[in-house]
Amino acid sequence: MRSYLCVFMTLFTLNGLLSLDFSYHKYKELTVILKNYSQSYPKLSPSLYSIGNSREGRQLWVLELTATNKSAIGTPNVKLIANIHGNEAVGRELLLHLIEYLGENYGTDPTVTWIMRNTRIHILPSMNPDGFEKASEGMCVGEHGRCNLRNMDLNRNFPDFYVKNMYPSQPESTAIQKWMDKTPFILSASLHGGALVANYPFDTVKELTSLPINPPSISADDDVFRHLATVYANRHPKMHFGIACPDGGKNFTGGITNGAAWYPFQGGMQDFNYFKHGCMELTLEISCCKYPPARDLPQLWEDNKEALIEFITQAHRGIRGTVYDSRTEKPIPKANMKIIGREMMFNSSQNGEFWRILLPGKYRLQINATGFHSDIVPFEVIDHKNDLPQPTILRIPLFHTSLPKPTAPPPKPTTLFPPHLFTSTYPPSPAPDTKNYTKEIRDQNIYDNPVKLLRRKSNSGNWPSTNYVVFCIILTVNLLS
Ligand SMILES: *[C@@H]1O[C@H](CO)[C@@H](O)[C@H](O)[C@H]1NC(C)=O
Ligand SMILES: *[C@@H]1O[C@H](CO)[C@@H](O)[C@H](O)[C@H]1NC(C)=O
Ligand SMILES: *[C@@H]1O[C@H](CO)[C@@H](O)[C@H](O)[C@H]1NC(C)=O
Ligand SMILES: *[C@@H]1O[C@H](CO)[C@@H](O)[C@H](O)[C@H]1NC(C)=O
Ligand SMILES: *[C@@H]1O[C@H](CO)[C@@H](O)[C@H](O)[C@H]1NC(C)=O
Ligand SMILES: *[C@@H]1O[C@H](CO)[C@@H](O)[C@H](O)[C@H]1NC(C)=O
Ligand SMILES: [Zn+2]
Repeated sequence: MRSYLCVFMTLFTLNGLLSLDFSYHKYKELTVILKNYSQSYPKLSPSLYSIGNSREGRQLWVLELTATNKSAIGTPNVKLIANIHGNEAVGRELLLHLIEYLGENYGTDPTVTWIMRNTRIHILPSMNPDGFEKASEGMCVGEHGRCNLRNMDLNRNFPDFYVKNMYPSQPESTAIQKWMDKTPFILSASLHGGALVANYPFDTVKELTSLPINPPSISADDDVFRHLATVYANRHPKMHFGIACPDGGKNFTGGITNGAAWYPFQGGMQDFNYFKHGCMELTLEISCCKYPPARDLPQLWEDNKEALIEFITQAHRGIRGTVYDSRTEKPIPKANMKIIGREMMFNSSQNGEFWRILLPGKYRLQINATGFHSDIVPFEVIDHKNDLPQPTILRIPLFHTSLPKPTAPPPKPTTLFPPHLFTSTYPPSPAPDTKNYTKEIRDQNIYDNPVKLLRRKSNSGNWPSTNYVVFCIILTVNLLS
């Protein structure tokens, strides 16, 4: 009785806010919770918005959180989506807990604080609220509630990299596409259930065949995708073992898999994110059971909490920058870009911004924009070892075609990098000593106090342990006296 009271009272100690219970929340409750969160964490300027309606008229709620200045240039946008399959319910609840975790730990936890000060995070806990209302708790397998109200699998409902998608576009997937047209997302996760693996593009293949062993469908950024999937799997206490789910699933080396190597399909959301918008999305299968009993949720949250946090930090890996008109200094939107050697284009944003997640190494960026001379800019991404990743920042002037094409600086056979590396003006400054490049790049980084990525031992969980102990002591004293 005493401990029951303790737990009960603890519910009311968290800054006066009711801490979210580990149960499943139907659409109406989800809406109330999100509205509550949108008022609860003013330091994270929460903004609750709907990207559209489901077939049955439910709002597709997104909560955005950030401690950055929303008009600042260059802040990466990250999105987390759950419940695209209505009967895969765990992610829906975990994302609500994640919102609370970010809100409660901002200002005290260094990693959370660093993330929120440098990132815009958009959370869509349910992409298929209609399907979820039909699905039933305890159903580990099966399809009931998977699709939307029109019986369409939303993860087959996107434009495909190789083929034309013949399925009529559903309101839920149309909403995602419109959302992505407006916001330049660069990193994303879609949370699923029914397996335990981090799955990365491509899912699609040129021709669907049914083979006992499927070859992988490799993308131009395979190294990056493998890295992102590995970050998640390694931070998850079980996923990285890659052990098959009990009901006869597959073993996955390292807990990651190329989508097509697992099983190929067309029209998936992660491929669309990547080839159309340059947004790197993973399909995270976080629970063997699709809709486990609510009593499993605390453990599932513990298993995925750190992995989700570390995954978000990866938005800061690689390069970012702006493309602008050398004469007017105005940003150039919709410039076409690619990393040479990686045949996957991406475009600059309305503000002339661009982002690309890349592993440490030396690269060249090609830029074409209508009305400007095209350019190729070499750059290096630095390995920050155990620190949180930090991007290389490039400011790239383009020269109007009415101006003479600037002559390239003379190649230096002894260095890989021509002198205009990392400079924002033309003509280039004299080549600095190559040994100083690292410092040069570091000087361009915006985060002067990189935070160490702490290998935190998972503690007892979501409960505010100090509050809890204090409360128990007070309560015990009260009861004894
Ligand atoms: C959130 O919900 C809790 C518990 O119902 C309530 O005490 C609190 O006032 C709510 N906060 C807001 C901002 O509505
Ligand atoms: C946010 O950034 C804009 C543009 O850089 C600036 O004008 C504005 O003052 C900033 N707002 C705050 C609160 O810092
Ligand atoms: C997965 O690996 C385990 C241990 O190595 C093995 O016992 C099991 O048969 C494998 N399962 C499948 C489906 O390959
Ligand atoms: C990027 O630019 C190309 C060429 O201008 C265009 O075809 C493509 O639709 C653009 N992508 C996006 C997401 O706007
Ligand atoms: C830029 O234009 C050239 C010439 O048309 C083309 O070969 C290259 O693929 C284009 N690159 C990008 C990033 O658009
Ligand atoms: C690096 O740059 C500094 C000044 O910018 C210079 O004094 C030094 O010689 C350079 N080279 C090395 C290897 O540090
Ligand atoms: Zn799924």
